[in-house]
Amino acid sequence: MMKGNRQTNSKGQLKHFLSIDGLKRDLLVEILNNAESFTSLARQGRSVKKVPLLRGKTITNLFFESSTRTRTTFELAAKRLSADVLNLNISTSATSKGESLLDTLHNLEAMHCDMFVVRHASSGAAHFIAKHCAPHISVINAGDGSHSHPTQAMLDMLTIRQHKGDFTPLRVAIVGDILHSRVARSQVLALNTLGVSEVRVIAPRTLLPFDARALGVHVYHDLIEGISDVDVVIMLRLQKERMSGALLPTEAEYFKLYGLTEEKLKHAKEDVIVMHPGPINRGVEMDSAVADGKHSVILEQVSNGIAVRMAIMSMCLGTHQDADMEDTV
Ligand code: NCD
Repeated sequence: MMKGNRQTNSKGQLKHFLSIDGLKRDLLVEILNNAESFTSLARQGRSVKKVPLLRGKTITNLFFESSTRTRTTFELAAKRLSADVLNLNISTSATSKGESLLDTLHNLEAMHCDMFVVRHASSGAAHFIAKHCAPHISVINAGDGSHSHPTQAMLDMLTIRQHKGDFTPLRVAIVGDILHSRVARSQVLALNTLGVSEVRVIAPRTLLPFDARALGVHVYHDLIEGISDVDVVIMLRLQKERMSGALLPTEAEYFKLYGLTEEKLKHAKEDVIVMHPGPINRGVEMDSAVADGKHSVILEQVSNGIAVRMAIMSMCLGTHQDADMEDTV
């Protein structure tokens, strides 16, 4: 039985995917393994092969905030699992005519939806929806305010595992606007649950939460010091839409201190990988030479988004099987 907005049932299986918080290492590894079994399907480019795992299921994308990569990869993932997909355009839906969020949800339930994929500017929105929707519906958090973005963290973990194998010896640095980043919060939880040796955050004091150390990270204010000898560097966008007041001098000044260049990257390990959840602001958080350079795995992260979302959606709807065993449709 599911209680409240808990994410797993009494057997420890996923029902909702709202946050990395509270999820066990084994479950995260299971998600990565299932995603890995989908990567060959997801990489098959134009001759898209589908698996019938979610045939007959209806998945609704509820995006109250703009998104490119996340929404489209959720849609592709659902289609490759043979689900029917509804994309609710919130700006033209009845919510903008004054209908409450719950009334919109109950109408979608009446249309027999099985899953809501939710992105919302308010922290806690996906948890709220999971708590109030019909019991047969699974909810996936596609980013809520500055709180959590758990599918992004899992696609990042898959990308790291594909390049580095074992998590335990790794030193990972997350650079930039930690204060407003739902991605950073989810990544720190996932990296620590998977047992990496050290997670560092590197940021000016104005872009760090008060209790940054309580997240289980080492804090640095100097980029070169912070990226010294790391295996993975994750760059973050300045989340200007969430900033109130001046937290930074100028973008040029920020780039001088925290922008990643090829020269600075030499301080990391020779085989370092550079990641970014996108969208990148070239010349603000990183140089184009780094974004497009040999250490960058940024576009692999995007491809992995499809496989990871296929894994999580099929696990939440309780029908995951080994994709290799499936006939295609
Ligand atoms: C992130 C987000 O929306 O939280 N992007 C994403 O999902 N790919 C990060 C960002 O917007 O900077």
